[in-house]
Amino acid sequence: RIPLLIDTDPGVDDALAILMAFDDPRHEVIGLTIAAGNVGLSHTVRNALKLCEVADHPAPVFAGATGPLLHPSRDAGYVHGRDGFGEIGYDAPARNAETEHAALAILRLSHVHAGKLLLVCLGPLTNLALALRLDPTLPSRVARLVVMGGAVTAHGNITAAAEFNIAFDPEAAHIVFQSFERTELADWEAVMAHGFPHARFERWVRADAKRARFYDAISRRTREWAEGRRGELWHSADALAMALALHPGGALEMAERPMVVELEGRHARGATIVDWRREEGRPDNVAILRRYDQAAFEARLEAALAAG
Ligand code: BDR
Ligand code: CA
Repeated sequence: RIPLLIDTDPGVDDALAILMAFDDPRHEVIGLTIAAGNVGLSHTVRNALKLCEVADHPAPVFAGATGPLLHPSRDAGYVHGRDGFGEIGYDAPARNAETEHAALAILRLSHVHAGKLLLVCLGPLTNLALALRLDPTLPSRVARLVVMGGAVTAHGNITAAAEFNIAFDPEAAHIVFQSFERTELADWEAVMAHGFPHARFERWVRADAKRARFYDAISRRTREWAEGRRGELWHSADALAMALALHPGGALEMAERPMVVELEGRHARGATIVDWRREEGRPDNVAILRRYDQAAFEARLEAALAAG
């Protein structure tokens, strides 16, 4: 099985993506490395531990960055709930996080699984940037890097031009995209192009399974918020990135291009600037997901919720 390490800030859509991975027979989730992002680190770590418990999965959980490398950022508690999991007040998880720091765990596991590791990043890229600063040879041991982040034609979701994961820690994103020769990217625009009706999702979370019941509860608040704001389609950003990671064959169209992160702009800090016409002579460094097999994506979401 392919060793899969997930760096994440759970987060309602992170949770769905992680459930998809837990359920996949071709991949083995070898750990969850956690950063602050959607909400503070104490919540994102606790949420990861709780999710493992609900799904009955033994993946170790490593706590990492408490915030961005340089400048403080605003979190997304208004989307995911102040605790990141819909404020349902679940019982404390029985297990604790490991004592090893997330950045060190990424490096160690990259040696254990050198050449085979699939690394999927669903939150701000702070942990991965820290790991890269400690050991710049890391990319040579990673088979594939898949990131949920960016807004490749500047239709942002946290500012006009920027997507949350990149805008939360632009410097970390800059380090990551400069360090890896090729990053597969599921950006916010791809996410918006792969929505599904709320009514359909409600049918899936009504499955008679522990995971579905838990997911129904933690996502309800966010679904109501999204329905009021974005209308009848529901989107799951991190789940789309995970679909690309687990089943790359479902990608119907990818675009390889050079991309940089804007670090200084007055209106565009954290924007991902794609050189669509290759004007500036830089090498391609991202493979941007443009179209994914929608039916396959939805079938996997439904299966992940019904499992266990
Ligand atoms: C991304 O930001 C977070 O709120 C979500 O978990 C997802 O990773 C979408 O912009
Ligand atoms: Ca996330």
